[in-house]
Amino acid sequence: MRTLCEEIKESDIGKEFTFKGWVMHYRDHGGLIFIDLRDYSGILQIVFDENIEGESFKTAKKLRNEYVISVTGTIRKRPEGTENDTLKTGRLELIAKSVEILNTCEVLPFQIDEESEVNEFIRLKYRYLDFRSKRLKDNLIFRSKFTHLIREFLNGKGFFDIETPFLTKSTPEGSRDFLVPSRLNNGRFFALPQSPQLFKQILMVGGFERYYQIVRCFRDEDLRADRQPEFTQLDMEMSFVENKDVISIAEELFAMLFEKLLNVKIERPFKVLDYDEAMDKYGSDKPDTRFELIIRNLTDVFENSALNVFKENIKNGGVIKAVCLPEGSNILSRKDIDELLNTAKEFGAKGLAWTKVSENNALEGGISKFISDGERSRLIAATGAKNGDIIFYQSDSKKTADNVLGRLRLHLAKKYNLINKNRLDLLWVVNFPLFEYSEEEKKIVAVHHPFTSPAVKDIEKLETDPLSVKSDSYDLVLNGEEIGGGSIRIHNSKLQETIFKILSISPEDAKIKFGFLLDALRFGAPPHGGIAFGLDRILMILRNEESIRDVIAFPKTQKAYCPLTDAPSGVNTIQLRELGIKLNENITKI
Ligand code: AMO
Repeated sequence: MRTLCEEIKESDIGKEFTFKGWVMHYRDHGGLIFIDLRDYSGILQIVFDENIEGESFKTAKKLRNEYVISVTGTIRKRPEGTENDTLKTGRLELIAKSVEILNTCEVLPFQIDEESEVNEFIRLKYRYLDFRSKRLKDNLIFRSKFTHLIREFLNGKGFFDIETPFLTKSTPEGSRDFLVPSRLNNGRFFALPQSPQLFKQILMVGGFERYYQIVRCFRDEDLRADRQPEFTQLDMEMSFVENKDVISIAEELFAMLFEKLLNVKIERPFKVLDYDEAMDKYGSDKPDTRFELIIRNLTDVFENSALNVFKENIKNGGVIKAVCLPEGSNILSRKDIDELLNTAKEFGAKGLAWTKVSENNALEGGISKFISDGERSRLIAATGAKNGDIIFYQSDSKKTADNVLGRLRLHLAKKYNLINKNRLDLLWVVNFPLFEYSEEEKKIVAVHHPFTSPAVKDIEKLETDPLSVKSDSYDLVLNGEEIGGGSIRIHNSKLQETIFKILSISPEDAKIKFGFLLDALRFGAPPHGGIAFGLDRILMILRNEESIRDVIAFPKTQKAYCPLTDAPSGVNTIQLRELGIKLNENITKI
């Protein structure tokens, strides 16, 4: 019936074909009209010649951008000098014999496939036009291949693809829930799942042993370039496993994906960083290791510092830490250094001390006059600083110093192009603390989720020193983005109850919220563990996009709004009445 643009080859010269697609570019050269015809496979140049018998030239005169046509003709070699090697079909063209207009198109709100900046809101509003651009189309086709390969791999490893409900109960993944009011049970609400965590554990109790799902998750959180209110996870769970088994299958999966889709061989096993080391050296639990700028601890060096702030801070249990920017003196002007102070303050710093290193390891500028010779040589040894480098210091609590320097190293690397964009750095971060103290909630909270198993060696410290307990969990980081996280789970109801107690979840509350899980754990739950990967984030990185919106067919804006459908939108009073809901007077009706 039709041939796809990119199916044709040199050996087709002289043969007749029919193509169907969209008019991409239209050029009228008097007696000749050229169009680029686009279908999902690619582009082919069509030529209409007024000397060719029939109606085709007349019809071609009426064509406009994005008209949908069916065109029949003969493939020929393009005349010498008119080839276009940027196109796969750039050495061929179709000389049209007949053309039919299948549909017309109104004036476009933006030019498709133009590299000019088009406002994202407009692109989302007319998403169907945006899909016709090469970049977005290629991203979505890549995504389709990506999920196909995942399914093929996991099905081959004995995993079962099992769906879990969207209308469900709240799962404690740490975000706000999206709620759905119930018409049949007024006053009651479903929560859309933040992840299928509890269901996959129940599947393990039911004996499935290996589960996976490519599944939508819903979290009502503040949005950023790498966050959407609904996003997709590759969710996995396995029974009778230890963390090394989950890690190993995940590595095998990623090695396969990288090789098949990017032709990149990745080294296995992946690097593993202890959480404490990640925080200490990179100030982040998702370190970007594509560049150095490692954070150094200089507390010992400055113990007797002439700088009172340093000395007092150390006396009060604080630390002095620093990053060294190689050749900083060439990169940064004095004004840049001053501006960095403001940036550091935005990151939570009280100040930003600095020194330049000059010839013979002499120090210049900033706090250099407060640094003794002895301190200087130990400082140079600890940082490895060389002539021309600039060292930036933080004197604060370890938490603040790590956080500020972690963000500063990222800021410097991005601003001064220190990141090798060709690298794909995959690494595991392990040995996270099980709990942390939330200043906001004034209580102990789970670092991952409350079903994460404590490291076996730390179980005895659970009740006496919970904040020192490590978890049996693992996060996967790619180029400084957390692309996945998982853990070995608690499969013992008593231990699960203890964890709830530490998290100040009362037995009554636990029963209401997770009673079904606690029940299940009492009926022969096998040891189990799993992981979930953020599919959109992985695709964003692999496609070199800045935002996950560019790898999602129908994303929401930063304000969780869909310009295409105008969702969320108002509902009528009858719908609300059926749900037993009355809007607050202050809310303007839409
Ligand atoms: P977690 O909450 O770490 O774990 O989520 C897993 C991965 O999902 C991605 N992710 C997101 N991607 C886009 N937008 C968001 N709003 C968003 N939130 C998370 C991240 C993250 O690493 N049930 C556990 C997994 C488990 O323990 O098996 C869970 O959901 O890449």
